[in-house]
Amino acid sequence: MTDPEALARDRDRALALLEEWVKSPSLRRHCRAVEVAMRAYAVHLGEDADAWGNAGLLHDFDWEIHPTLEQHPADGAPMLREAGWPEVVVRAIQAHAPHTGVVPETNLERYLFACDELSGFVVAVARMRPEGFGGMKPKSVTKKLKTPSFAAGVSREDVAHGCELIGLEPAEHIANVIEALAPISDQLLV
Ligand SMILES: [Fe+2]
Ligand SMILES: [Fe+2]
Repeated sequence: MTDPEALARDRDRALALLEEWVKSPSLRRHCRAVEVAMRAYAVHLGEDADAWGNAGLLHDFDWEIHPTLEQHPADGAPMLREAGWPEVVVRAIQAHAPHTGVVPETNLERYLFACDELSGFVVAVARMRPEGFGGMKPKSVTKKLKTPSFAAGVSREDVAHGCELIGLEPAEHIANVIEALAPISDQLLV
């Protein structure tokens, strides 16, 4: 069995797991977006970029097989443990979902919570713009956050809570996420 710490950094294994359980291209794109946002923050903070990226890539890996809040991501945790993923990654994935009751505590957990909903939202905003991510400013995202009908599935409360968890103003967090996602816009906006 692979050493859990080495597995935490193994992107090929993370991607294989994602592709095994997630068939929807849009959910795969969402996982990819959260991965790159997490990587960018890890690099910025001097954290383990490979492990942080994998936590982002895998956070919704069980959504298609566990499509209710009772099941996702709680029922995914034993699957990850079984596959040898270390507890730091398993716990971070639980903590991205407030309904699990697992409170984000570590840096990895807090940033994963903060990047999840916002990455989805930023992609939704980019999708509406003819220029995509080109020239995109935090202000256009903030404006849409104040429009409840836009991407109504994204919890504004979770977005705000995520900013608090990482101690950043929303505009700053949004700018960081835009900067992280823009280089892979061709993968995200297909
Ligand atoms: Fe989720
Ligand atoms: Fe997600």
